[in-house]
Amino acid sequence: MVHSKIIFTHIIAGIWLASFYRFTVNKPTMRSNETMDYALFGAYFFAFPFEFSSKDIAPLMVMNGCTVLRAIFYALGRDERGTSDMKQLQEKIVSEGRVLSESVLKVDSFLNHQIDPVLMDAIGEEFASRFSDAGVTKILTIESSGIAPAVMTGLKMGVKPVFARKSQSLTLTDNLYSASVHSFTKNVTSEISVSKDFLDKDDVVLILDDFLANGQAVLGLLNIIEQAGASLAGVGIVIEKGFQPGGKEIRDRGIRVETLANIKTMENGKAEFFEEAMVR
Ligand code: G4P
Repeated sequence: MVHSKIIFTHIIAGIWLASFYRFTVNKPTMRSNETMDYALFGAYFFAFPFEFSSKDIAPLMVMNGCTVLRAIFYALGRDERGTSDMKQLQEKIVSEGRVLSESVLKVDSFLNHQIDPVLMDAIGEEFASRFSDAGVTKILTIESSGIAPAVMTGLKMGVKPVFARKSQSLTLTDNLYSASVHSFTKNVTSEISVSKDFLDKDDVVLILDDFLANGQAVLGLLNIIEQAGASLAGVGIVIEKGFQPGGKEIRDRGIRVETLANIKTMENGKAEFFEEAMVR
């Protein structure tokens, strides 16, 4: 009875600590089940010196065993959150995407024209979770289709997104970083620019974009980050066409690229994903 009371007190203390951590340090990315994990760990940690030999502690040990297993599964990339968000996007591509040719995928109904806010929310959560340890201070994308995922990710991470403009702005005329981006898909070259007011050497930048095909947009954004003297946290891509060269070229530079749906082939009018993209 006494032991039960002590354990109960420890659990409450653990929950309090976990909640404190969740709502202060890691508010944007932590989830309820993780809060519970921290709570159990906290309870176990406090109880350890006192009740280790008692059988009262057994349920706590079992629960913490589960937490450790969850951590191992998560480290192996098989945690359900990675899979479910990925699946949600993949299912959307399969159900609503249209393969226009062996290299062009139309996703106008949720990403490139009409936007699905529920999916964008999940995408933001996923990027925020994957880059939570990268110390990101700024998200950099390119207009127009990168903006929606960048905004949702910025919201979840508590950082501001900036989008590179492709066209000349009336108000944005000097004090700019700029770079040329050639689109092989559209066969046009555009000059992209970002105001020096919104990016500087102290920033740790996460590049986000809707598609990764030939990698020219990402290379242009990298060029801008270099001009600013900022550091790079990595690159987050919603849909990568893994059969085109951009992903390899960027990874070969030692850059971390996180892709939410990586398409292996679009032959026979159907998008097929790389195996690892299905489990995360
Ligand atoms: P790259 O940046 O990886 O080199 O890509 P690329 O030049 O080949 O493509 C340039 C534009 O075409 C980008 O949009 C990119 O998102 C888009 N794109 C590339 N492949 C596909 C595809 O299979 N499907 C769709 N829907 N878009 C594709 P953008 O010009 O920046 O336009 P937006 O952001 O305003 O939509």
